[in-house]
Amino acid sequence: MKYVIGIDLGTSAVKTILVNQNGKVCAETSRSYPLIQEKAGYSEQNPEDWVQQTIDALTELVSISNVQAKDIDGISYSGQMHGLVLLDQDRQVLRHAILWNDTRTTPQCIKMTEKFGDHLLNITKNRALEGFTLPKILWVKEHEPELFKKTAVFLLPKDYVRFRMTGAIHTEYSDAAGTLLLHITRKEWSDDICNRFGISADICPPLVESHDCVGSLLPNVAAETGLSEKTKVYAGGADNACGAIGAGILSSGKTLCSIGTSGVILSYEEGEERDFKGKVHFFNHGKKDSFYTMGVTLAAGYSLDWFKRTFAPNESFEQLLKGVESIPIGANGLLYTPYLVGERTPHADSSIRGSLIGMDGAHKREHFLRAIMEGITFSLHESIELFREAGKSVHTVVSIGGGAKNETWLQMQADIFNARVIKLANEQGPAMGAAMLAAFGSRWFESLEECAEQFIREAATFYPKEQNVQKYKTLFDVYKKIYTHTKDLNTALKSFRKNQL
Ligand code: XUL
Repeated sequence: MKYVIGIDLGTSAVKTILVNQNGKVCAETSRSYPLIQEKAGYSEQNPEDWVQQTIDALTELVSISNVQAKDIDGISYSGQMHGLVLLDQDRQVLRHAILWNDTRTTPQCIKMTEKFGDHLLNITKNRALEGFTLPKILWVKEHEPELFKKTAVFLLPKDYVRFRMTGAIHTEYSDAAGTLLLHITRKEWSDDICNRFGISADICPPLVESHDCVGSLLPNVAAETGLSEKTKVYAGGADNACGAIGAGILSSGKTLCSIGTSGVILSYEEGEERDFKGKVHFFNHGKKDSFYTMGVTLAAGYSLDWFKRTFAPNESFEQLLKGVESIPIGANGLLYTPYLVGERTPHADSSIRGSLIGMDGAHKREHFLRAIMEGITFSLHESIELFREAGKSVHTVVSIGGGAKNETWLQMQADIFNARVIKLANEQGPAMGAAMLAAFGSRWFESLEECAEQFIREAATFYPKEQNVQKYKTLFDVYKKIYTHTKDLNTALKSFRKNQL
């Protein structure tokens, strides 16, 4: 039997899986690393932590799997998107990586939009948002000019880890799309955008396809992990592209709901015909020459993580969510907006913060948890609304990540989205998409679709229940008003904010 490895470099942890030719996950490991938040709105990580923890996780994966290194054909990657890693000409990291959920770049985004907003939209199909990479590059250029002058190349997070494991520098289209520097349909770095923003196109890494082989493991990495130097390394994709591949979102009409630290609603697009006018993101997929649209809730899983960390640090998520199933829809009048770190879709607003509206003396902890789950799902539903308004039909949603681990939450998604919600068997999130890219790259299959046939199984379907759908419609109308009613209040509170952790 042959095997591949999928690595998902997430925001809180790296996860590795070893998958055989039948799509069976034979071993799985993970290692976490910290966020560095020096000021309100800042979110950074030390790229060295990613590398060390990935090597550690791989070493354990090899040792627990009882598989011979020579039988592992390929490795590929999925990673948190948009993060900026700057390297000098000796390929040394110049500063901590600035992550997708860092919101310091509002002034850069305002300037970019004022000067070239429509142009940017035409070329990149996206608007300037704090999370994307180009505003981060402009921030470093403005605030750390001496350091910026030393920049020889920038990389995205998973591309940096892959570079350290292979010695080769690349990115691929699905992550390049999230930089705001890629001409999305021509699939080349945009000289025009580089010129307009005073960035040398030389700092952009070479582009490859997600399933392209970019080399093999460096001898020191092979020795440390127990892997073989001959194992081929494939480029991989953005975590959302890989989440979609791992859930079989490889043709039109398929929609994904993925809840990790952030939450996304993602829908496959064959071409660029439909115009979303930048209201949702539009990125290259990890499947060659295809695209996806996506709305993002910044603090999805992060909302529950915050609650657990703050009020129940010693409980598991299963313990934490016990009892929510018996709380009625609407949590007895309690509504939550998940704006803990600002929001992206539909409100691109880095200053907004979360609310719990309607608290009363009878609310128990389970009411708060139910309200948080509902608030996250309402926020994701706002993206589904935007898709539907643009003429897309959203009737079936494959749910992965945290939202797929709890049956109450799966039914809640079906009722709020008013769509069939599918839970997958042995779902592994973006790590599976990465493993599938390695399997396809290794030529186990003729196409990613054929690989999906073999690897992905549906486990259960949750159907919307009409009376729940109606109740949620009423609540959703109230939910949507919270943003406008709390916007000014949050702006007034901004100067009182300190670190977010
Ligand atoms: C997508 C985004 C997040 C990160 C999380 O635009 O910023 O979903 O990819 O890893």
